Amino acid sequence: MAQRPLNVGLIGGGGGAFIVQPHQKAIHFDGTRRVTCAALHPDPAIAMQEAENWAYPIQGYTNYNDLIAQESAKPRGEGIDYALIVTPNHVHFDPAMKCIQAGIPVFCEKPLTVTLDEAAQLVEAVKAKRIPFGVSHTYLGHWTSRLARHIVRSGLIGDVRWVDSYYLQGWLAGRTEDQGSMQAEWRVDPKRAGKSCCGGDIGTHALMQLRFVTGLDVVKLSAQLETFVAGRQLDDHFTVYCQLSNGGRALVRASQIAIGHKNDLGIEVNGTKGTLRWVQEEPESLTIHLKGQPDRVYWRGEVQPNDGFLGDLPADLMAEPTIPSGHPEAFHDAFARLHRCFEADVRAYQAGTYTEADGSKYATVADGHMGILFVEKSVESASKAGAWVDM
Ligand SMILES: NC(=O)c1ccc[n+]([C@@H]2O[C@H](COP(=O)([O-])OP(=O)(O)OC[C@H]3O[C@@H](n4cnc5c(N)ncnc54)[C@H](O)[C@@H]3O)[C@@H](O)[C@H]2O)c1
Repeated sequence: MAQRPLNVGLIGGGGGAFIVQPHQKAIHFDGTRRVTCAALHPDPAIAMQEAENWAYPIQGYTNYNDLIAQESAKPRGEGIDYALIVTPNHVHFDPAMKCIQAGIPVFCEKPLTVTLDEAAQLVEAVKAKRIPFGVSHTYLGHWTSRLARHIVRSGLIGDVRWVDSYYLQGWLAGRTEDQGSMQAEWRVDPKRAGKSCCGGDIGTHALMQLRFVTGLDVVKLSAQLETFVAGRQLDDHFTVYCQLSNGGRALVRASQIAIGHKNDLGIEVNGTKGTLRWVQEEPESLTIHLKGQPDRVYWRGEVQPNDGFLGDLPADLMAEPTIPSGHPEAFHDAFARLHRCFEADVRAYQAGTYTEADGSKYATVADGHMGILFVEKSVESASKAGAWVDM
């Protein structure tokens, strides 16, 4: 018999919000999850109006405190099974902590918090409650990101010497924050965005992609944070030279003033035997370059084990559902894969069989903490003219 769909509550998402939309579509992707309620806006009247106008019936709440209290008091199956937090960065910590304390698993947008102390508190709370907690690093959800992780971590391109992990955008190249963009307006405000605009917003994605694919950590860094657009308090260009835990080196870079770049996130890993390249704007394939050999392009849906380069492939990677190759998967599919994996952990949690997530399917609270640490250390290094700082 089919399992009942999991109920998801939204925190944030009304009034023309952006990232709630790919998420809510991804939640409904498989028919095994659905949005049932929401606290969509800080203004209670608008929150209720937005819930009333939602595309399908949901219960509106005037604020997230009521949502958490009332949903957690309902019997299992009637209340929410997890919460999705899609508010600006400064409204992640409080609802996340309250959900954890109420026993509600959380899928939270990145960057995890605006301070390192808050991130550390969430790590401790999640550990104490042994509760699923995912951080929405979208690009880990591409099937080809999973393949890249397998290839690099299993040593197929040799030891990692150099990584270039980047996320380039151009949408903040002018004063977008003065042109009615609510997304730009809070991102350039340190009270709502945190200590870095560009680094927190998209540099954390580039860092996560590096850590996910290579399994390596940044142990030391030297950063330059630039503000090219006059009048901004925070960086709009973020460049970090890194020493990696295996002795290799990396550049983690992000920009919001790179006109012409849209969501140009990519990673290149140079190993002692070969190079891997992957870009999220063309996420259906990745390319392997081996010295003295023709390039190999691996397309999602066309990957076979033991082809002369790949050895055996992990069963869980090959079992992940995808559509036939040539029908392109992209952004929404990546979100769906993250929610699908998170759903499995939530169901295990409810069945009493959940063990701590290992970060192979979605970013964990510990990954989120690492992102905030990286931002804080980068800000510190930049304030000392790029001095080397230990992570
Ligand atoms: N994973 C990704 O690829 C990705 C992409 C974009 C944004 N994000 C992250 O998602 C978050 C939201 O970004 P966005 O661009 O969608 O922002 P947005 O400004 O479009 O939406 C924010 C939403 O939060 C609501 N909100 C604010 N305070 C609230 C409160 N106290 N209670 C209830 N709702 C409240 C707003 O009304 C709005 O609906 C940010 O943390 C951002 O970094 C992630």
